Amino acid sequence: MRNHRKIMIAGNWKEHFTVSAASNYLHRLEENVQNRQSIEIVLFPNVLTLQPLSQLDRRKFRLGAQDGYYEDAGAYTGEVSMAMLSELVHYCLVGHSERRHIFNESDDVVAKKSQAAVRNGIMPIICVGETLQERLAGETNQVLHNQVTAGLMNLTSREIGACVIAYEPVWAIGSGEFAKPDQVAQALDYIRKQVEHLFGERAAKNVRILYGGSVNDHNIGSYLDIPGCDGALIGGASLNYHKFSSMVETAYRVHQSRLEKENG
Ligand code: PGA
Repeated sequence: MRNHRKIMIAGNWKEHFTVSAASNYLHRLEENVQNRQSIEIVLFPNVLTLQPLSQLDRRKFRLGAQDGYYEDAGAYTGEVSMAMLSELVHYCLVGHSERRHIFNESDDVVAKKSQAAVRNGIMPIICVGETLQERLAGETNQVLHNQVTAGLMNLTSREIGACVIAYEPVWAIGSGEFAKPDQVAQALDYIRKQVEHLFGERAAKNVRILYGGSVNDHNIGSYLDIPGCDGALIGGASLNYHKFSSMVETAYRVHQSRLEKENG
């Protein structure tokens, strides 16, 4: 069966790069990265940098926000709403493990944020994943089940088809500790089955599921080779434009070889 899901290569810059460093990076990336229409490149700069970057030539990449608040406007000092972000971005990360663990975001908040994103025309990238303790206790599937169910709770099956889920085991984020491709394959498969169970076959076929956690230019191919893997969410290694461009090229090669297989 033909897979219409476009591979996404997403760079989560976290709390890095001032406005000028970010525009420098982007100019370098422009020179280095090939224009590969079949791969979707999305960058997630800090919120302050989104506005100036949105003024630059964006033929090769899209912008995403790292977070957004679920109330569209009001007395919420310090917050930036999905409604405000919607003028600048296509995507927004929701429930990244750093938000869940450092800023205590609950499943309930994650659910409200994904709903607010969709309501404002932004595609949420809902991040899920188990801690090391949970993995060792054999609770990985249970955690994924709970986070996927909660994160998608307020959405219709049609809306879910347009969402992205990122499987990011907490123990593999920023740690240099690699998840084995077969562990990732199992988790991705479990998540897609969960989406199918909750929202039906069409939603499960359309939703894109990424892997994230210490992805770099050396190991990305082994994750993208997993049949149900629709791309990667990359933190540390995305801060280097050489590495990022090279990961886009790997994604392009994987895309080409998937096409060849499909066409027999
Ligand atoms: P990492 O971060 O690639 O540095 O592990 C991934 C993420 O937090 O999305």
